[in-house]
Amino acid sequence: MTHQDVGKFPHKGSIFDVAKVEDEVRKEQPDLRILWMDTTTSTNDEARELARLHAASWTMIVAGQQTAGRGRYTRIWKSPPGGLYFSVLLHIENPSSPITLIPLLAGLAVKDGIESELARLGGGAFHGYLKWPNDLLTKRGKLGGILCEASADDGVWEIIIGAGVNFDPIELDDVPADQAQAVTSLRNDYPAVAWTREDLLIAIVTRLNDWLNTWKKKTSAIREAWLEASGVVGKEVTATSMGEKITGTATGLGKNGELLIRTDVGVYPLNAAEAVIVHDEWRT
Ligand code: BTN
Repeated sequence: MTHQDVGKFPHKGSIFDVAKVEDEVRKEQPDLRILWMDTTTSTNDEARELARLHAASWTMIVAGQQTAGRGRYTRIWKSPPGGLYFSVLLHIENPSSPITLIPLLAGLAVKDGIESELARLGGGAFHGYLKWPNDLLTKRGKLGGILCEASADDGVWEIIIGAGVNFDPIELDDVPADQAQAVTSLRNDYPAVAWTREDLLIAIVTRLNDWLNTWKKKTSAIREAWLEASGVVGKEVTATSMGEKITGTATGLGKNGELLIRTDVGVYPLNAAEAVIVHDEWRT
């Protein structure tokens, strides 16, 4: 991507109505600019490249498909046409709230956005939940995920919030045989609902803006909402952290978003950057 590409956004004739999303979200967040790409390797990689070219905060990339979609750790995020894939670039100067809460609030935004769209479209209640730190699951399987990447330079944080939501129906053949986790999509779970990617994105990004405002003022509200959305408190979990297996009862979140696990030898604060929950008994 060259610098000139930034700003030449295909507002008309695109298979995705960029202008509709920008117009709606800008009522709350006037800085939003969207770049649509029919196909890319990874919207997070595009966002990083745009950051290198000094793109402004709230520049967002939305892609029709990704050829090298990435998940947390070394996971691959399968990104065929028909999903919702996007990344938002933020610059945050000298934050007084922990950056480590941003992945959690991003998960909340995706969950809330789906919930409000489902209600608006008359589809009833959303039965999804967040699995620490920010996987979005329903009882059929994984519906969405978040990949946040952050770096700091001279007190200014560059944050890339990438999110993927499985949208169109997924055939069982699409899921790699070695994939440990079942996968689902909005249209698998709610086939009668008239979802559009544009309206869903409007709902998610509006909620993301709301949660970022809350994060600046009252981080306890993020932790409380996340705990509610996950239902993890009081449940047995097993995690691996730096090669060590930890089993215990989840008791809450620490100030930086660590999952607190009460074990036989005390409370272990599980850090999202280094730990994977391998088993969460309450949902299986
Ligand atoms: C995970 O489940 O581990 C996170 C998945 C995140 C996928 C999204 S899709 C948009 C953005 N671009 C990527 O390459 N990954 C994120």
